[in-house]
Amino acid sequence: MEDKTIFWDFEKNCIKLVEQTLLPTEYRIISCESVERLAKAIKNLEVRGAPALGVAGGFGVALSAFRHDDENMDGFLRLVSDDADYLISTRPTAVNLSWGVKRVLSTIKDAKNPKEARDIALLEAVAIAEEDEKMCRLIGKHGADYLPEKCTVLTHCNAGALACYTWGTALGVIRSAVAAGKEISVISCETRPLNQGSRLTAWELSRDNIPVKTITDSTAAYLMKKGEIDAVIVGADRITHDAVFNKIGTYMHAVCAAHHNIPFYVAAPSSTFDNINSESDIIIEERSRDELAFCGNKQLMPDSVNALNYAFDPTPMELVTAIFTEKGVLKPPLLKGELVPESRDI
Ligand code: MRU
Repeated sequence: MEDKTIFWDFEKNCIKLVEQTLLPTEYRIISCESVERLAKAIKNLEVRGAPALGVAGGFGVALSAFRHDDENMDGFLRLVSDDADYLISTRPTAVNLSWGVKRVLSTIKDAKNPKEARDIALLEAVAIAEEDEKMCRLIGKHGADYLPEKCTVLTHCNAGALACYTWGTALGVIRSAVAAGKEISVISCETRPLNQGSRLTAWELSRDNIPVKTITDSTAAYLMKKGEIDAVIVGADRITHDAVFNKIGTYMHAVCAAHHNIPFYVAAPSSTFDNINSESDIIIEERSRDELAFCGNKQLMPDSVNALNYAFDPTPMELVTAIFTEKGVLKPPLLKGELVPESRDI
């Protein structure tokens, strides 16, 4: 396996990424040679997971700069900025996407010509990707200390290498704990309707020989009641001072974990923190009815019935035991505007 989820092809000046909808049966790297193709890949979850979307956003702005060649710098910047807005609009909840896009866009404002803008944009996008790996490794190191020598961890969705540039956040903590000699086994919730848990998390961990079992999402409470879960660790798509936004179903696990006195941990880099907004300001992505209505070609609902397909839910901060970041471990409650040392414009 190419160990990076998304990267730049320096020969063809385009983006390469692991096409995640094909996993676990096929591992294929595809090329995104236009901003439109990248936008489609983001919407379809060919590339997904908050930190990977941050990297995709950064490379997306670089790709736009490579595809436009307006002699007039104002015109060039307008075209790239329109592409940036388009990329941000593809998925609203994970803050990393707009963060990555805006970070690279802001670096090219004073470029003298498109060539210079391309070089600067690409440098910044590569820096985002490389920083992501460093952050994940530090998150893993900080979080691993919180896991007992021998334990079973429940996770939801995929917060692994596939959701980042590499290594992972929640799965990064598990990988770091295993590397430190701890005996960890993982319960991976299926994560309906798109099965990031059973398709991606189970795939990643089994390739690393980390013991993993998949359960239906609704089995989690029963396993907690039986005393078979020692900790829950999830990633995040956005963290405000009052809530952790993550894959739909996360809130349910947090409520059950609190009821059974099980620690509920979140692992996320500072690019996932939103220092400005509160829970009520955030748009929860709603996805197509078809994701619930069909499993492959098999129809699962009557034609006449509609669906509510929220992709994420907010877990109130009072249910969170600790947040593992690259800068250290945060223990709620958190103060608005002081989530991570540096405030960022979102
Ligand atoms: O819809 P997805 O697959 O992009 O949702 C991903 C998640 O909810 C992850 O848990 C989150 O992005 C954290 S990834 C490190």
